Amino acid sequence: MTELSKAEREAEDARILSDFPILDGSFVYLDNGATTQKPKAVLDAVNNYYLSMNANPMRGLYKLSIAATDAYEEARDTVRSFINAPSREEIIFTRNATEGLNLIAYTYGRAFIKEGDEIVITIMEHHSNMIPWQQLCKEKGAKLTYILPDEDGTIAEEKFRSYMNPHVKLVSMTHISNVLGVKNDIKTFARIAHENGAVFVCDGAQSIPHTKVDVQDLDVDFLSFSGHKIYAPMGIGVVYGRKALLEKMPPFLFGGEMIEYVTTEGATWNELPHKFEAGTVNDGGAVGLSAAIKYVNSIGFDRIEEREYHLTKMMMEEMQTLPYVHILGSDKPENHHGIVTFTIDGVHPHDIAAIFDEHDVDIRAGHHCAQPLMKFCHTPSTVRASIGLYNTEDDVIKFIDALKQIRGEMGYK
Ligand code: ALA
Repeated sequence: MTELSKAEREAEDARILSDFPILDGSFVYLDNGATTQKPKAVLDAVNNYYLSMNANPMRGLYKLSIAATDAYEEARDTVRSFINAPSREEIIFTRNATEGLNLIAYTYGRAFIKEGDEIVITIMEHHSNMIPWQQLCKEKGAKLTYILPDEDGTIAEEKFRSYMNPHVKLVSMTHISNVLGVKNDIKTFARIAHENGAVFVCDGAQSIPHTKVDVQDLDVDFLSFSGHKIYAPMGIGVVYGRKALLEKMPPFLFGGEMIEYVTTEGATWNELPHKFEAGTVNDGGAVGLSAAIKYVNSIGFDRIEEREYHLTKMMMEEMQTLPYVHILGSDKPENHHGIVTFTIDGVHPHDIAAIFDEHDVDIRAGHHCAQPLMKFCHTPSTVRASIGLYNTEDDVIKFIDALKQIRGEMGYK
């Protein structure tokens, strides 16, 4: 990570902020784990798509539809290269990470998980990487096992290995926890799962904006993520799947464009990736995702990681001086990846969030779609500040100023 001087950092902050029209200085946005703001490059790309090439892709033989198809397939190539997938046929556009994880559970899961098999996930999973597996296991008579992390949120290699046995046929795990911010060692865990004969699914929803995700390096069988968490519009997401697995999986949704041939008796399926993209696709969203990826690449993960680490460290160091503030998970900023979830003694998280809002600081309160993790951490709900590539030291200062006033505003001395 390349560290910058103060002047260089301020110049970089100003350059990046000027790319985001909504960030006009009237509020501090620290809810990037929920969704991110969109740079002008993304807004312009989506606008340009609808101004100049909107038609139903893959269906028309006229120039406009061909342009729409080309834009969609260009977006697929951008995603392929971004996550270093071996083939464009392995990139399936979905609505979001949730739909992608459901796709994998419904198709791969229903076809290949049998009674007596075991699926391993972790207690830190978002509901979208938990409920599909719960439902599948109930339907199939399979067992669902939850890995419990250490107190700091980390899962050691030996602990992961201890959950493996010949019945384990699938492991699904978040890359970065949306609550603890901890990054799981997916590369090591995928290798161990494969040695055990299991397929490895990675939920990349929270890692994709923060760190390089290379599916060949991680050697995962599936990856799912949302566009809106990486500065693209809502309503577009991606599933990467290993081609050999996608080829033997049945389709997820049935309908237009996912077929090869239909008779009154039945149908055969289109080739990859179209087999998994039934109905009219979100072309404008795919174009926006492509522009978002190019924008992220133009800054580079070296700078993104350094910026986010710098602010996470600054934020946590200040928070750690306040005895009534308790950060979930690790006390080390390097284990948080821009995500800092906390409680304040004596103040309900919804009151905390409301007071932050009065100070024009946007953070998230609640269970963060991870209720079993909340139970594991012995707290019904928490507050989360989550950093994006455009946040600045000034944002952290305003956050800390507001944080220091909360107990006073609730009547504590
Ligand atoms: N999954 C998103 C979050 O963690 C919505 O906030």
